[in-house]
Formats: sequence, structure tokens, C-alpha cells
Amino acid sequence: MKVIQSVEEMSEASRSRKAAGKRIALVPTMGFLHEGHLSLIRAARKAGDVLVVSIFVNPAQFGPAEDLDSYPRDLERDLQLCEGEGTDIVFTPPAEEIYPDGYSTWVEETELSRGLCGAARPGHFRGVTTVVLKLFNIVSPDVAFFGRKDYQQFKVISKMARDLDLPVEVVGLPTVREPDGLAMSSRNAYLSDREREEALCLRRALLKARQLLAAGETSAAAVRREMERLIGVEPDARIDYLEFTDPETLQPRETVRPGDLAAGAVFINRVRLIDNLLL
Ligand code: PAJ
Repeated sequence: MKVIQSVEEMSEASRSRKAAGKRIALVPTMGFLHEGHLSLIRAARKAGDVLVVSIFVNPAQFGPAEDLDSYPRDLERDLQLCEGEGTDIVFTPPAEEIYPDGYSTWVEETELSRGLCGAARPGHFRGVTTVVLKLFNIVSPDVAFFGRKDYQQFKVISKMARDLDLPVEVVGLPTVREPDGLAMSSRNAYLSDREREEALCLRRALLKARQLLAAGETSAAAVRREMERLIGVEPDARIDYLEFTDPETLQPRETVRPGDLAAGAVFINRVRLIDNLLL
């Protein structure tokens, strides 16, 4: 396994492999890898001849009051995990390689990225689309894998690829969960034992929404009230948003129907967790 830090070296490695007719599969990550990431890496291993995993904690997608500095990092462990999955190249550039002095170009998707996490985290998706487009340009993947745990992110990146005619297939894979149902996330590492218990409230609320819909409830407001009640019993939980949307346009719905996206973000004290399901 090769570990590459320089943009130039990464581009060259891709160029020579593509010239030899190899198919490149990319898994972009911010590291501190868990089974969710590994599910993407395993799928990418099967989908391409050359498997590239990028590990880059992207400053551009964090707000000024967010957790960039404390974001969990363990490169040694990540490299071992990548090696164990048969990764060919880990691309882990320093921030100056991606955003050199004077950097001033940004890519923005302007519809799907407006609501949900986009409304709660201004500038977040601009940072995501910019770094992912740069990774696509540097690595030249034929196929790239994303998790539907970040459903809106997956949709925004797919839309960018279509709108900008990027020659890459964007694939979204299901959310990998802990045995009790908590969506795996690098940020779960921040949780104390007690917060870890409380963190399940979002999943519980989303399942409640599905149950209410199955029982014939169609009012988004009524479903949201029940979800708020379930989350409200946890002393350290605070709702950032709970929304029902069209799964393709991500436009909010007042009347919920089967197939809609139910998505939420909840703070457990200072830790922000997201989850979603298709109803
Ligand atoms: P990160 O949070 O490290 O996630 C990397 C990829 O793993 C994303 O596509 C994410 O959706 C996926 N993932 C995370 N948890 C998952 C889970 N429990 N099940 C399945 N997939 C999961 O998302 C990012 O990094 C960044 O925004 C990035 C796309 C790398 C751009 O900086």
C-alpha cells in the first residue's frame, strides 16, 4: 500500500494507472475509520482495479464554532485498517496541499444543499462539494462511494457530478449501525457512556415516524410532535432539526407519504449527530 501526501504525486499515480487501462475506485473520508467507512472500502475494492482511500479532515466544511480542531484523528490505525482491506493508495494530503495560500475558488450546489444540514450549517456543503470535486480531479476515479448515512451529502455530490458532467459514477451505500441501531459515526467517539445511551433517541424517533406513517398518520406536524416527545425525555438532547422531505428534491413536506425521507440532527450536549430513514 502506498501512502501519498502530495497532489502532484497522487495525480501522476492515477494518470499512469489509467493509461494502463485500470479502473480507479475512490472512497473519500475524513478518517477515524469505522465499519461504515469499511463497508464503502470493501465495495470499492470489488468495483475497481485500483482502490484509493482519501483521508483528509476538510477545514472548508467546518463552521467557525464547529469541531475542526477536536475532530478525532488516528492515522496509524486508519492506515492499518486500509491495508487490511487491500487498499492500493491512501491519499492523505496536508491542508496546504488542498488549499494553498491565496486559494479562492469554490463550488456550490444551490438547490439540494439549501435545507436540512445546509440550513443548520451555513457553508458546509460548499466546503464538501469543493473538496470532493478537487479529489475527483486529483484522483480521476471511475467510481466513488458515499454513505447514505449522510443522505443529503450523497444527493448533493450526485447532483454536482451530473450538473458538471463529471466522468465518475457516484454510488451511495446503506448506513452501517451499531448492534443497538446507532448510526456509526466518527463523532460517536466524543460520547460518554451516558450520552451514548441518550444518542439512540434520534433513531428511536425516526422509527416512531415510520410506525406512525404505517398506522395512517400523514401530518408531518403530528409526527414531528411525537418525535420531539421521544427526544425530549433525554436530558442532554437538543433537536437541531427534524424534517420530512421528498427523497429526490429534498423539499420539505407537510403531508408525509411512503418513500419520503425523514431526517434529523440532534445535539447530545455538544456532540451533533445525524440520521435518516426512508419512510
Ligand atoms: P466522513 O464523515 O469521514 O465519511 C466518509 C464517508 O463515509 C461518507 O460518504 C459517509 O457518508 C460515509 N459514512 C459515514 N458513516 C457511515 C455509516 N455509519 N454507514 C455508511 N457510511 C457511512 O463525509 C465525509 O467524511 C466528508 O464530508 C467527505 C465526503 C469525505 C468530504 O470531506
